[in-house]
Amino acid sequence: MKRTKIVDALQSTDFGKDICVKGWVRTHRSSKAVDFIALNDGSTIKNIQVVVDPASMDAEMLKSITTGACICAVGTLVESQGKGQTSEIQAKEIEIYGLCPSDYPMQKKGQSFEYMREYAHLRLRTNTFGAVFRIRHNMAMAVHQYFHEHGFYYFHTPLITASDAEGAGEMFQVTTLDLSRTGKDDQVAYDRDFFGKKTNLTVSGQLEGELGATALGAIYTFGPTFRAENSNTPRHLAEFWMIEPEVAFMDKAELMDLEEDFIKYCVRWALDNCKDDLEFLNKMIDKTLLDTLNSVVKEDFVRLTYTEGIEILKKAEADGHKFEFPITGWGMDLSSEHERFLVEEYFKRPVIMNDYPAEIKAFYMKKNEDGKTMQGTDVLFPRIGEIIGGSVREENMDKLVGEIKSRGMDPSQYSWYLDTRKYGSCPHAGFGLGFERLILFVTGMQNIRDVIPFPRTPGKAEF
Ligand code: 4AD
Ligand code: MG
Repeated sequence: MKRTKIVDALQSTDFGKDICVKGWVRTHRSSKAVDFIALNDGSTIKNIQVVVDPASMDAEMLKSITTGACICAVGTLVESQGKGQTSEIQAKEIEIYGLCPSDYPMQKKGQSFEYMREYAHLRLRTNTFGAVFRIRHNMAMAVHQYFHEHGFYYFHTPLITASDAEGAGEMFQVTTLDLSRTGKDDQVAYDRDFFGKKTNLTVSGQLEGELGATALGAIYTFGPTFRAENSNTPRHLAEFWMIEPEVAFMDKAELMDLEEDFIKYCVRWALDNCKDDLEFLNKMIDKTLLDTLNSVVKEDFVRLTYTEGIEILKKAEADGHKFEFPITGWGMDLSSEHERFLVEEYFKRPVIMNDYPAEIKAFYMKKNEDGKTMQGTDVLFPRIGEIIGGSVREENMDKLVGEIKSRGMDPSQYSWYLDTRKYGSCPHAGFGLGFERLILFVTGMQNIRDVIPFPRTPGKAEF
């Protein structure tokens, strides 16, 4: 008999007809008169209830159906008597695909996320992770849909590169040489390496994205990026996914509009398409989740210069607010507690901070007339801090080369990039959204390791 997905079975009103469902047992309660098996197949957060008359089944077989076991159940679809569900199955036949021994690590309810991370290969079968990864899928669809609707081309940038897009030196090296034999970097014969030179995993597709945007007009990338930064925080991964739109002829005001419009579209998409999962997470993980999502969609984001931001933070500190990292003054890099203070306590709305001191931002950003600030445009979010990092790009060849040199970087490494300025240079801008930070925000989860199926962090790379 053809299998019906549980999401469809729960919506079906074909009462009296036989159907077949397959899935993993969430709970099995038994009494003398009747057994209830709650079954889930990943198609929805909801379980279907399989009602079994114990007299109609082999007692041993029925007893062996424990939490985590995989079964196929055939029976009559009936209108449910219980509250909260529409239909259930009166079982006629049950086939066991896979038993689940009692040492199943995901057996107990209410395990901590730390515990479940130790079993990252099995945690996918829990309600919370099912919800998170269905939402993650939906957000990926939202990203593609938004850019497709707005005339952006999906542009694939390389994962193995020879340049450091952020100039921050936080790269994982890619090599086929046995470096343990060679010692110092300057003694390594990279001309004998696979690519004939030193290469690394990309930290950002932006620079190649700029090549696309200055030819196709508007592009976006959506792929994995890698950073060897030793940040053991709930917001950093060594391997994360980034979405990077890049647009020709876009100025700073238009860029901030794009950032706000795009992120609101994604959040609205979640509210429209992930209702059951969001309701579950709102109940189990964060009781303010739905309110927060709804308010982000409605409120205008604040536009605030870095200089104004520092003034507000200084004043707050003078008025007695204690920051872990004191406000040392103009020029300091903000940490997430400062960003969150502005968003959560001061404005109570997302903030797009812009015009940052040049020293704390990347070499490619467009310098302002004041010579001190750059046209960076970061979006700061409640609970997350920085969710988007973006900027207008420096389109002037001489200024860009000057900036590269003043940072001790080698312009010859960037010759292909500089050609966009040499030949028909154009004003342009773009940003990067950390996909997992968006998923953190939308799901209400606390730790970024819990919104990517297989997290990579310092000291941890399982599977
Ligand atoms: O601010 P970042 O470093 O900006 C760039 O990489 C630019 N090239 C983007 C662009 O303009 N095209 O990173 C962008 C975003 C951050 O705002 C954050 O959301 C996320 O990427 N991010 C991380 N997410 C998880 N783990 C990490 N280690 C991250 N580092 C950055
Ligand atoms: Mg940034």
